[in-house]
Amino acid sequence: MTFPSPYSIYQGLRGVNPTTLTNHDVPATSLVGKWVIITGSNNGVGFETAKSFAAWGANIILACRDPPAWERHPAAAMQEIKDLAEAEGHQSIIEWWSIDMADIQTVEAFAQRWLHSDRVLDILCNNAGVAAPPAGHYWTKDGFQFVHQVNFLSHVLLTLRLLPSIARSAQPRIVCTTSCIHHIGELDFEHFNCGSGMIGDPYWNNKLWFQMWVAEMQSRFLKHPEYLHITINGVHPGFVASGIWDVLENDGIIDRALKFLLRYLAIDPKQGSFAIVNAATNPIFGPNPKTQGVGSSEGRGGGKYINRIWEAVPKACCDDPGAREKVWKKLDEELQLQNKGLLVELDLP
Ligand SMILES: NC(=O)c1ccc[n+]([C@@H]2O[C@H](COP(=O)([O-])OP(=O)(O)OC[C@H]3O[C@@H](n4cnc5c(N)ncnc54)[C@H](OP(=O)(O)O)[C@@H]3O)[C@@H](O)[C@H]2O)c1
Repeated sequence: MTFPSPYSIYQGLRGVNPTTLTNHDVPATSLVGKWVIITGSNNGVGFETAKSFAAWGANIILACRDPPAWERHPAAAMQEIKDLAEAEGHQSIIEWWSIDMADIQTVEAFAQRWLHSDRVLDILCNNAGVAAPPAGHYWTKDGFQFVHQVNFLSHVLLTLRLLPSIARSAQPRIVCTTSCIHHIGELDFEHFNCGSGMIGDPYWNNKLWFQMWVAEMQSRFLKHPEYLHITINGVHPGFVASGIWDVLENDGIIDRALKFLLRYLAIDPKQGSFAIVNAATNPIFGPNPKTQGVGSSEGRGGGKYINRIWEAVPKACCDDPGAREKVWKKLDEELQLQNKGLLVELDLP
């Protein structure tokens, strides 16, 4: 067990900034005619994100699993979001499509369904996540550690599968909900799929892999004319009082500290959603016209880590091409990306 450096802890704690945001910070923008997919949008930050996008006229696919009985069902979420869109005067399409991020087959089926729809995907929000595996499900049926697959692997696969549709949008954006906690993640490549002996924690480490992958994807997009215009960023939504923390127990110093912070410092899911909405719509976090050939002059391009709505420093290894390459190779090994033909254009030297 290694202990995170004071600098990593400091950077991680910056994610607890509870500043109250308003529509002045993240102004409304028309999304009429745009298509958006949000994973994990029946609850929490994803649900609130979907509500904002719906109010602004977007067509939305809620990419959700059939949840345990105590969670808000995606059908109920869909109806609430539809009503909201109608109340704002939009005739948009809001649908729930089933996907279980703990089951690769359903991710593949979801992607095929989307590609067959022949729709152009303007915004992909890779948001679904769990803090820990449910009791008795440390490994998924696909042989991966539960958090590793739900939070990270399935989003990688989904994104790569959907790229042909994303590339057809004029200025597409991919927003990945990573976390400030990536700062205390460990680069334990021997335990990429977690398991006993792993240094760090599956949640922390996978948020780190995810943020590194975001930076690597953007750098590869920039080398490929067909994907050059795509912008991908990682966002920390804030320290949000949501269902994700229901797994916390009363034992252990970290759980107790988190519970204490939740009571006094956490923001609500609506506040958390500003991070995703901002990364998806703010011109600053859109394409950089100098390197991507599209976008407004304010656009800074992607590959960034955004703490709520503010660009922030990612952990140093996110800027290390050698370390990122290792993540890329591990993903290829685990998901058999080459064999599936998913790296044909992106696997550039
Ligand atoms: N809350 C925070 O302080 C915080 C901080 C940093 C980052 N994040 C990240 O923010 C994202 C959203 O979390 P949240 O705080 O909004 O928590 P949440 O309310 O628990 O939402 C998580 C969402 O992910 C979905 N999900 C979980 N397992 C899934 C699976 N196997 N297949 C498909 N969907 C699944 C959940 O659906 P069900 O209803 O079916 O469970 C739910 O819609 C996560 O990636 C989380 O890691 C949160």
